[in-house]
Amino acid sequence: MKVKYINRKLHHMAEDLTKKSYIFGRQKCKKLSARQQSLVENLLPKLLINPDKPFNEDELSPENQELWLEIGFGGGEHLSATAKANSHIQFIGCEPFLNGIAKLLVAIESEKLENIRIFDHDARKIINWLPDESLSRIYLLYPDPWPKKRHRKRRFVTSETLEMLARVLKPGADFIIASDIGDYIRTSLSAIEQSSDFVWSPQSKADWRTPPKEWPSTRYEQKAFREGRYPTYLKVKRAS
Ligand SMILES: C[S@@+](CC[C@H](N)C(=O)[O-])C[C@H]1O[C@@H](n2cnc3c(N)ncnc32)[C@H](O)[C@@H]1O
Repeated sequence: MKVKYINRKLHHMAEDLTKKSYIFGRQKCKKLSARQQSLVENLLPKLLINPDKPFNEDELSPENQELWLEIGFGGGEHLSATAKANSHIQFIGCEPFLNGIAKLLVAIESEKLENIRIFDHDARKIINWLPDESLSRIYLLYPDPWPKKRHRKRRFVTSETLEMLARVLKPGADFIIASDIGDYIRTSLSAIEQSSDFVWSPQSKADWRTPPKEWPSTRYEQKAFREGRYPTYLKVKRAS
C-alpha cells in the first residue's frame, strides 16, 4: 500500500509538472512507524478528498457547519487541537508531506476526531475545487519562506493566490497567516494591501504580536521561539 500511495503521489506530481507545479522541496518520507503505516493504509483513504469528484456539501459539511481550511499543516499540531476544540466546525487539512499526514492521523485516532478531511497535494488544487464562498476561515501557518531571491515566486502568498482565496472565502471570513520571517510578512502585506478583496486593520502592535485566542502552537513556531525569532500573526479579513 505504501508503494501504491507513493506511486499515486508521483503520478499527481507528474500530472502537475505537465501543467504547473507548485510543490517544491521535500516530500520523501522517513520510515513510518507500524501504527502510522497502518493508519495510512486504513484510515487515510476514508479521509482523503478526491478533487476529481465534484464538491459534495453533504459529505464535507453534512449539517451545514462552517468549513475551515489549514494549508500546509505540517505535523498537524494546530489542526488537530483546533478541530478538537471546535467539534461543531468541519476542517480540511492540506499537506503533501506523508510523514506530516501520518502524524495527524495518529492525533485523529487518539483524540477520536471526526471533523477533519485531508487533501494530500498542492493547496491551490483544492482551493480551485471548492465552491465560491464555501470557507469561513483559512490558516496558513509558517509557510515555506523561500528566502533566496530567485525562489521568492514559490512563496504561497501572491496576488494570484489571494484572488483564489478571495473567491472561496465568505465575506467577513478570516485569513490567518503566521510567520517568523520578516520578509515573508512584508511581501504578504504588500500583496494584501494591493488587493481590494482583503482588509488588514490592526488596532495596535499587540494585534500582530499576539496569536489569536486559544492558539495551539506548531512545531515550526516552537522552533522559531527556540532560535529567538518572534512570529507575526496577520489576522486578515475577506472584505464584505
Ligand atoms: C515550514 S512548514 C510549516 C508546517 C506547519 N504549518 C507548522 O507550522 O509546523 C510548511 C509546510 O507547508 C507544506 N506545503 C508547502 N507547499 C505547499 C502547498 N503548495 N500546498 C500545501 N502545503 C504545502 C510543506 O509540506 C510543509 O509541511
